Amino acid sequence: MSKRRLQVKITGLDDFGRGICKTDGQTYFIPGLLVGEEAIVETSFKFGKLNDLKVMERLNSSPDRTVSICPYYPQCGGCQLLHLRYESQLEYKRQKVQNLLHKFSGLDIKVEETISSNPHFEFRNKVQKPVRKVNGKLELGFYKTDSHELIPVKKCLMETPLSQKISREIHKLLVKYRYEPYDEDKGTGYIRHILIKTSRHYNEALVTIVSTTDKIKGRLQFAKELIGNVKEIKGVVLNINPRHTNVILGEKNIPIYGYTHIKDRIFDNDFLISTKSFYQTNPYQIENLYGTAIKKAQLKATDVVLDAYCGTGTIGISLAKNVKQVVGVELEKDAVKDAIKNAKLNNLNNICFINQDCTEYMLKSQKRFDVIIMDPPRKGSTNEFLEAVNQINPRTVVYISCEPSTLARDLKHLLKRYRVISVTPVDMFPNTFSVETIAVLKRK
Ligand SMILES: C[S@@+](CC[C@H](N)C(=O)[O-])C[C@H]1O[C@@H](n2cnc3c(N)ncnc32)[C@H](O)[C@@H]1O
Repeated sequence: MSKRRLQVKITGLDDFGRGICKTDGQTYFIPGLLVGEEAIVETSFKFGKLNDLKVMERLNSSPDRTVSICPYYPQCGGCQLLHLRYESQLEYKRQKVQNLLHKFSGLDIKVEETISSNPHFEFRNKVQKPVRKVNGKLELGFYKTDSHELIPVKKCLMETPLSQKISREIHKLLVKYRYEPYDEDKGTGYIRHILIKTSRHYNEALVTIVSTTDKIKGRLQFAKELIGNVKEIKGVVLNINPRHTNVILGEKNIPIYGYTHIKDRIFDNDFLISTKSFYQTNPYQIENLYGTAIKKAQLKATDVVLDAYCGTGTIGISLAKNVKQVVGVELEKDAVKDAIKNAKLNNLNNICFINQDCTEYMLKSQKRFDVIIMDPPRKGSTNEFLEAVNQINPRTVVYISCEPSTLARDLKHLLKRYRVISVTPVDMFPNTFSVETIAVLKRK
């Protein structure tokens, strides 16, 4: 291993929020440094490849720098931009979307200002925390960046105060009941993760304990005591995940005590949220995201709308009263069950849901749509789906994406028959490098 110290100057930020610097024919990506900042770094190379890079001393401060108020930053890998002022985070995200659109689809469009999140702390309505033994003690926390080393976290500034209170209570009871944390290397123990979902509107919570086994002594007692101690918790569910995997949730859910759902409200509709179904994680931004997408879709009362990758039907249900008919398509069975319940809960009878892969649906369906709203997962959509959109040729396509590089790749397929008329980033994930984007396309 060869070690070397050098002085660097940051000239840009990469897509993961790391400072970029080019020196001696090498490009370095350095977390925690901002544009214009200079620093002394120590590099170590192994077999000619960069093995480690440490910032030894920062020589100046960018005017965009702020002091992180999180005691776990930067060790915890959850937030990458806590050292960047919030207004600058918004501009960073706008530029990131603009650059990626240019790079992967050749689009030169002026991306709109990023819609900011108010608040940008204590907003997250969903937290998943690994449970591990650290120095012989059961701890809840988050993983260090790029590792499975647990950092015990007493208070995460991103989760809601209710979720923080529940975390503390679960920790206390897991210790009291002497439940064994899972050890992925040794294959011992059984409590893997806790998952807390909270509802902003109704101030309710659902707790899921992820375990390798359903054989947990005193589990009913545990759940009753937890609900007894935190009255906002409406239910405790056990999720069984025996596999050796990074995927957090297993297939099977066993209700232990109370309800299996909580309820939240978006505009004037109620939505059920369960352990497995997708729900946007920043409740302060959901109406900004959906409201902007719906407004820009310029819907007509005669429109038939496809809500592709619909989750629990939140977008389709939010716009159903403005149009003739909505069809929602979603792969996850539980999400579709929730979507059907959500439509009933809100007395809507012009919306239906189909449990199918979106590409399969598009290849087989003969239905015509006036507007397609699509909100695929991070990996984006498929060529076949996008070709089918071109064939159906709706008046408007609204593409909502949480990963601008796959958005850019997918938009390229639609440019033959569509013009991109606006691109709006929405800050659903403050203090991280992630950005949600709404792209609106009109038929040529
Ligand atoms: C980003 S979420 C959006 C959900 C919803 N639109 C919302 O705002 O809550 C993406 C959804 O796509 C679903 N999904 C993933 N792959 C799919 C596929 N091939 N076909 C249909 N749905 C899929 C996921 O289960 C998830 O519910």
